[in-house]
Amino acid sequence: MRPSLSGLLTGLATVAALLLAAPAAHAADPPLRDLATAKNKVIGTAVTGSKLTGTYGEIAGREFNWLTPGNAMKWGSVEPTRGNFNWTEADQIVDFAEAHDQDVRGHTLVWHSQNPSWLDNGTWTPAQLSQLMNDHIALEVGRYKGRLAAWDVVNEPFNEDGTYRQTLWYNGLGADYIAQALTAARAADPAAKLYINDYNVEGVNAKSTALYNLVRDLKARGVPIDGVGLQAHLILGQVPSTLQQNIQRFADLGVDVAITELDIRMQLPSTAAKLAQQRTEYDAVVKACVAVTRCTGVTVWGFTDSDSWIPDTFPGQGAATPYDENYAPKPAYYGIATALGGTVTEPPVPTGCSAAYSVPNQWNTGFTGQVTISCAAGSSLSSWRVAWTFGAGQQVGQAWNANCVQTGTAVSCSNASWNGSVPSGGSVSFGFNGTWSGSNPVPTVTLG
Ligand code: G3I
Repeated sequence: MRPSLSGLLTGLATVAALLLAAPAAHAADPPLRDLATAKNKVIGTAVTGSKLTGTYGEIAGREFNWLTPGNAMKWGSVEPTRGNFNWTEADQIVDFAEAHDQDVRGHTLVWHSQNPSWLDNGTWTPAQLSQLMNDHIALEVGRYKGRLAAWDVVNEPFNEDGTYRQTLWYNGLGADYIAQALTAARAADPAAKLYINDYNVEGVNAKSTALYNLVRDLKARGVPIDGVGLQAHLILGQVPSTLQQNIQRFADLGVDVAITELDIRMQLPSTAAKLAQQRTEYDAVVKACVAVTRCTGVTVWGFTDSDSWIPDTFPGQGAATPYDENYAPKPAYYGIATALGGTVTEPPVPTGCSAAYSVPNQWNTGFTGQVTISCAAGSSLSSWRVAWTFGAGQQVGQAWNANCVQTGTAVSCSNASWNGSVPSGGSVSFGFNGTWSGSNPVPTVTLG
């Protein structure tokens, strides 16, 4: 039977709509969550509730099947003054997750940080402290009973040398606060998986061994403990070589293991070489989890560099997440995808695109620089980054139509939110004011 004209037109319109709707960078790839599901793992991200709309919400919902509130469920967020509760952001995240068929990790119930000042500054007897902790757990875990897949019940209980951290809880209740907290959480929601979560416990070291011994002892005592969270706030070039071995030894105790807060930070500016190394390291971390059956999955601590804690806490460092500030997937994204069995490769910079640097204006100590990114017919870009080295002491000042950072002699400029796309046969330009003295040679620029 011949297809009717109207049928053909409808079909063509559908194809055109699909082409228009598909994001250019990885149109044909399965989202990370589908790849993870096929490996029987989860892929998660920390989120900020107020941002879950627009592009941020679209990526969070499309790519991830697990969410962790970055701050919204911490004691200081939910009970800022005693007896006054604010569940708005926490509820928003749980509602979003349910609407997008995602699981939620509650984070976190008993910690030394981000507590309300009324709690931190109060004077409490051990009995009062125990009551406060148990009531808090009963209330918060009870509120979300049946809706959360897991809870970070106790967060960061150890010092680097494996001794217990001196906290409100430890000082008041001794190490037993951990068993008490886990027991209270189990009573409040028997279905939620209960975790102890810490950082710098990714490799085999004194701190992770202390955590290992604690979990072994808790299990021997019959205290409810289901899993261990390895936060994995890592530094480029310093992924522990014993990561998989460490995951395996916890798994062998009979608990689940989750990588709960992965990010890999670098000294800014990022360069193509650093981002390529970061891709390899994201791939390695996710592969270590994939290799161990009881490793449930990986959560990144923010999926975009625009929603990462790193630049505030470590000035001069950043670019730690799989998406850049403009929501373009970075090489790290493709590292995660390939570790989860994806066959996608990062779109290479098309050979038909290039960047050219010029100095249209120069005066005694200042100059204006201009960079034009052009693509020949048949090549195009959906985002770009241009890097160069200033060898004669020049310094980048204010830039327009790009985000530029200079560290030492290295300069890196990436597209602004409005000009990432360079069409076939087209070009975009950005400029900046700079300073110079002595000489102002034109650097070699690379497009990556
Ligand atoms: O909400 C206020 C805002 O009103 C104010 O204008 C602004 C000014 O600085 O601060 C905002 O609060 C910040 C909050 O994040 C929300 O953005 C706090 O100052 C800031 O300290 C807080 O940082 C959080 C940090 O925990 C606190 O330790 C990070 O966002 C959060 O990502 C981070 O997460 C922790 C995990 O919970 C545990 N593991 C380590 C990880 C990284 O530190």
